Amino acid sequence: MMRKPLVMGNWKLNGDTKMVAELIAGLKNELASVNGCQVAIAPPNMYLSQASDQIKGSLIELGAQNSDVNVSGAFTGETSPLMLKDVGVKYVILGHSERRTYHAETDELIAKKFAAVKENGLTPVLCIGETEAENEAGQTEAVCAKQLDAVLKTLGAAAFNQAVIAYEPVWAIGTGKSATPAQAQAVHKFIRDHIAKQDANVAKQVIIQYGGSVNAANAAELFTQPDIDGALVGGASLKADAFAVIVKAAE
Ligand code: G3P
Repeated sequence: MMRKPLVMGNWKLNGDTKMVAELIAGLKNELASVNGCQVAIAPPNMYLSQASDQIKGSLIELGAQNSDVNVSGAFTGETSPLMLKDVGVKYVILGHSERRTYHAETDELIAKKFAAVKENGLTPVLCIGETEAENEAGQTEAVCAKQLDAVLKTLGAAAFNQAVIAYEPVWAIGTGKSATPAQAQAVHKFIRDHIAKQDANVAKQVIIQYGGSVNAANAAELFTQPDIDGALVGGASLKADAFAVIVKAAE
């Protein structure tokens, strides 16, 4: 079964109402003829409703950058997966290294968020990846396995049906220093093989994105790799023309 690649823009903490309107208008124009790739954008939460209205009728789908475990109640400042669905969100990025670092999110908490996102009919995008120190110590596969196992052990391999994995080596995020296609492919294959130990069919179907300094210049070569099914794009997703080049390279 062929996996349809997914290219998703993680806008992080960037934008305002004017920029959101202009960027989405540019993306709709640039991507009007695309059909060989799934496309999503993940603006900051306060612009999700605006974005949801503006992408209607286009191939662009909506993502969020995080979700709480709780759907409602006394959880000041949190974001409910049910409310994300209510405003048209499809994907929810979970376990991004910036949240693991700045918000001390553990593998166990991320697995609980993963379950809550799925229970509420959304598609989790589980971010995994090693730091530079872990990479240099030869710990890449062990780190990725540990991060995957937090979900596999609690929810089983079936959890990755209707879910996405994003391999984002921390040392490549925001540095301009992407993993090489061969480096990324080796880890993507490890991820797929790790899931296949529990369920070969799920492993074959799950979309595994690469993230970490993907740009218009390096995307096409990354996407030649058999186990790279698109990208989770940060900086380059904030420019409609650059993001469109990446999407078209994935088709
Ligand atoms: O979630 C994607 C992000 O972490 C990658 O950022 O700027 O290296 O593309 P960037």
